[in-house]
Amino acid sequence: MTLILGIETSCDETAASVVKDGRVVLSNVVASQHELHERYRGVVPEIASRAHLENILPVIQQSLHEAGIELDNVDAIAVGNRPGLIGSLIVGVSAAKALAWSTGKPLIDIDHVQAHLYAAAVANIQDKNDLPPAPEFPAIGLVVSGGHTTLYEMNSPLEIKAIGRTIDDAVGEAYDKAAVILKLGYPGGPRIDKLASEGDPTAYELPRSMLKPGSLDFSFSGLKTALLYAVRGKPIGRGKSAVFERDAEDLSNQEIANLAASFQAAAIDAVIKKLKRTVNQMRKNDEQASPKSLIIGGGVSANTHLRERATDFAKRYQLKLHIPAFEYTQDNAAMIAGLADTHFKNGQFADLSMPAIATSKNL
Ligand code: KG4
Ligand code: ZN
Repeated sequence: MTLILGIETSCDETAASVVKDGRVVLSNVVASQHELHERYRGVVPEIASRAHLENILPVIQQSLHEAGIELDNVDAIAVGNRPGLIGSLIVGVSAAKALAWSTGKPLIDIDHVQAHLYAAAVANIQDKNDLPPAPEFPAIGLVVSGGHTTLYEMNSPLEIKAIGRTIDDAVGEAYDKAAVILKLGYPGGPRIDKLASEGDPTAYELPRSMLKPGSLDFSFSGLKTALLYAVRGKPIGRGKSAVFERDAEDLSNQEIANLAASFQAAAIDAVIKKLKRTVNQMRKNDEQASPKSLIIGGGVSANTHLRERATDFAKRYQLKLHIPAFEYTQDNAAMIAGLADTHFKNGQFADLSMPAIATSKNL
């Protein structure tokens, strides 16, 4: 049996978790800072790193306590060391190093984006038979979060190659910006998701950017601008002196719900269209490499509409869908500790010179 303590501080969630044998979650503690950032309508890096400093030790202690173990019982300490806000990452990385150094336990460096693609594999269960099935490879990976909208070709949880990415906003970022335009507050994703269920998704025809024929990249900035004009009317004048006809406050609740639903339909449709392109291209290029599974992760994988559309899509294209349980869609440390088990088994360890890195691995 392997017990790994995972630590995650890449953005505005301070998280720690203990995972057994890479799959069974014994504790999953997440201290969210949403309230601290709400008034700024986005994450303020300096506030985030200070809050991580305050939260990190109590969160780690609680994760050990909930798992019913002592630090001495863990086999390794894993931390998300990239990508993310550098000041936030440093807090988790320093804590992990200090624990590894003081206990002599091995240290494991985990890529946050790769961990999102592992999140569907972990579960909080009593009986091992209740574990979600392990994915079959090759697989298509899709990370949809506040920082990423990236498609991957995957041959195992650690052998992944990016084949498409956003050229401007990430889809979660587009949701957060759309919520600012609709005056719904931060974080926007869950609020738009909820409100969209009360609106008409066909009320407004918003663009689904496909980019060049065959491109697997994404673009959401045109959708954001189209929503801005749908809400506020066409601007008179340019730049900072531009004046709009109206604002979100001038619209009825039903109109706001219709706009939220139309935005969501366009954003998710663009993602599904790119998935179709990916699977068609992969199947055409090489029968052997034909994907067997679709693995989705990241904050936006909590989205109700995406989950429905991805389920239909996977069924139609005969792919097995792996999508995390709700608590593992958002940033969490169970996905960090879970993926670390693969590193542990492969003997892939970091040393105390391990850096925190703001950018993604060049996968
Ligand atoms: O993965 P995550 O927790 O952090 C990053 O690594 O970025 O993702 C956060 C993003 C935010 O942009 C948030 O608005 C979005 O995920 N999100 C959602 C939903 N829940 C969270 N977007 C759409 N629908 C949701 N239900
Ligand atoms: Zn994330």
